[in-house]
Amino acid sequence: MYRTHTCGELRIGNKGENVTLAGWVQTIRKFGAITFIDLRDRYGITQLLFGEELNKQLEENPPGREFVLQATGVVDERSNKNPNIPTGDIEINITEYKILNKSAVPPFTIEDKTDGGDDIRMKYRYLDLRRNTVKKNIELRYAVNRAARNYLHQQGFMDIETPFLIKSTPEGARDFVVPSRMNPGQFYALPQSPQTFKQLLMVSGYDRYYQVVKCFRDEDLRADRQPEFTQIDCEMAFVEQNDILEMFEGMVKHIFKEVKGIDYTDKVERMTWEDAMWNFGNDKPDIRFGMQLLNLKKPSSVFTDKDDNASLVNGADFKVFDEAETVLAIAVPGCSEYSRKQTDELTEWVKRPQIGMKGLVFIKVNADGTYKSSVDKFYNEERLKAIAEAAGAKPGDLVLILAGAEERTRKAISELRLEMAERLGMRNPDEFKMLWVLDFPLFEYAEEENRWVARHHPFTSPRPADIETMVNNSPVIENAAEYLKHPYANIKANAYDMVLNGNEVGGGSIRIHQKELQEKMFAALGMDREEQQHKFGFLLGAFEYGAPPHGGIAYGFDRLCAIIGGSEVIRDFIAFPKNNAGRDVMLDAPSSIDEKQLEELQIKLSLKNDL
Ligand code: AMO
Repeated sequence: MYRTHTCGELRIGNKGENVTLAGWVQTIRKFGAITFIDLRDRYGITQLLFGEELNKQLEENPPGREFVLQATGVVDERSNKNPNIPTGDIEINITEYKILNKSAVPPFTIEDKTDGGDDIRMKYRYLDLRRNTVKKNIELRYAVNRAARNYLHQQGFMDIETPFLIKSTPEGARDFVVPSRMNPGQFYALPQSPQTFKQLLMVSGYDRYYQVVKCFRDEDLRADRQPEFTQIDCEMAFVEQNDILEMFEGMVKHIFKEVKGIDYTDKVERMTWEDAMWNFGNDKPDIRFGMQLLNLKKPSSVFTDKDDNASLVNGADFKVFDEAETVLAIAVPGCSEYSRKQTDELTEWVKRPQIGMKGLVFIKVNADGTYKSSVDKFYNEERLKAIAEAAGAKPGDLVLILAGAEERTRKAISELRLEMAERLGMRNPDEFKMLWVLDFPLFEYAEEENRWVARHHPFTSPRPADIETMVNNSPVIENAAEYLKHPYANIKANAYDMVLNGNEVGGGSIRIHQKELQEKMFAALGMDREEQQHKFGFLLGAFEYGAPPHGGIAYGFDRLCAIIGGSEVIRDFIAFPKNNAGRDVMLDAPSSIDEKQLEELQIKLSLKNDL
C-alpha cells in the first residue's frame, strides 16, 4: 500500500496516528538540523517534519521540487499553525521515507501565482494541471458535468452517442476533414455538432436525448472559442418552445444549486432579439446592470416596431449627428466628475481599431443640476437636459454618445457599455443572471452572393405566425439594395439563445419536421433539388416516415463552466486546450504526416502557397 491517507485529509483529531502519505514535493525548508517538506497531492498539502536523524539521510539522498515521495510518520500538533490550509494544525513527524521518483527542475513554479507565461505552461500542461488554480477549474468542470447529467437523467433523457466520422453539418463554420483510406479521394467531415443525428433520433422515437459531446469547428479563435469544444447537446420530441425553455432553465438552476450552492429563484427574463439589439446593442446582453441605450436616431428599415428620439438632436446644425445613420447614448452612473484627461482617454478608447468610432460626445450632468458637454456649441442647456433625461441620467452621471453607421455604432456602444460597467465594478463574477433571447431573424442576407443564409442552421423552424410568409413568398431578391423590404427579412425563427452574464452559453430551436417545409427552406437558401438530395437526402427521407414535432438546444459546456467559474476564458477550463492559433503546443499538433501514411491514403501533397 502506497499511502494510508491523502495529503488533504489529516486533522488534529488524527494526532498520534501512524500514517503514510505519498505525493509531490512542493517546498523544502531547512532550519539547522531539521527540515520541513510540504507534500502535495490532488487533495491538499501536508507538512512533513524530518528530525535530526533523518536529516542526515536527506543530505545523502536529497529530494528536490516535484520529486515523488512516500513518507511514514506520526501525526503531531504543530507549534506554528497555518490557518490558511485545512491540514494547517498538524504535521507528520517522519520516521522513514522513500523517493519513489525523481523530477527534473520544473520550467515554472507549481504555485497559484506561477512565474510561467502562457506558452510555457501550455507546453508543459501536465505540470500546469498540478497547480491548484487549474485543478479547481477542472474539478468545477466535472461538477458541472455531473450535475447536468443527473438532472437530465432524472428528467428521462437518454445519453446516446453519435458518430464523429460523418458528412458536413452546416453550423456556419468550416469543417475539419479526415481522409478515408478505404475510399481513396473521399473525406469524412468531423461534426460541427450532432444536429442531424439528434433529429433522426427523434424520428426513431427516442424522445429525450442528450450527449456531452465534442464538436469540431474550423473558425477563428477567441477567448470563448476552441476548434474542438464540448456541448451538452439535447433534443426533445412533442414539445413547444416554452417546454424547452422551462426544461433547460431548470437544468442551469440545478447546476447552480449543485455546484455553487446558489438558489436561483429569480424568474428568468425573456427578451426578443429586436429588444436586445435596440436596448443593449447586441444579442447577448449582460443584464446584471442597466445602462440601457437611448436611441437618438434609428436607421431606416431596421427596427420596424421602434420609435427613436431624433427630435432631441435634430435641428441643431450639428453635422456629426445630422449625417449619422444612428446616434446612441448611455448614461454612466456617478462619472460626471471625469476630468478632461479621463474623457480624452475614453475618446481614444472608442477610436481604437477594434471599436472603430471617429469620436465620442459627452454630457456631464453635474451634481448641482448644471450641464457641461463637448457639444455646448450646438445644444443649449435645455436640450442637453432633455437628452440626458431621456437617457435616464441623474445628477452626477455622465452621458456618452456615439454616432455613425448602424452596425458599427451599435456594436461600439455595446462594447462601451460593458467597458464602463467593468471599470465601475458592475460585472460581478459571483452574480449570475440568465436571460432567454427569442425571435431571432430566420434569415440573414449574404450580400456577395445576393441570397439568404440561415442565421442559426437550416433545420430551424420559422415562428408559427411566420410559416405562411415563408411558404407563400419566393426567396428571390429582386433589388439587392432593398433586401430589408423583402418579406423574408422580417421572418422570425422559433429559436432561442440562453445568455448568462453577457455570454451566449446555449442556443437551439424548434425544428422543421415536415418534408415540404424543409425543402422550401433548403430552396430559400439557394439549394436546388439535386443539392438537397446530395447533402440532406437522408433527413428528407426520414421526414417521410412519421417525424414527430421536435426541438432542442445545445449548451457550450466549456463556456458554461468558465462563466460559473467567474471567467470568460474557456481554455482555463479544458484539460488540454489549443492555443489561439489552433495548435496543441504540447504535442506540437497539427504536424506533417509520414510519407507512408500519405501513400496509404493515396494522397500527394501539393500546397498552393509555399510554406
Ligand atoms: P450553436 O452553434 O449555437 O448551436 O452552438 C451551441 C453552443 O455551443 C457553444 N459554442 C462554442 N463553444 C466553444 N467554442 C466554439 N467554437 C463554439 N461554438 C459554439 C456556444 C453555443 O451557444 N446544433 C446547434 C444547437 C441546436 O440547434 O440544438 C448548435 O450547435 O455556447
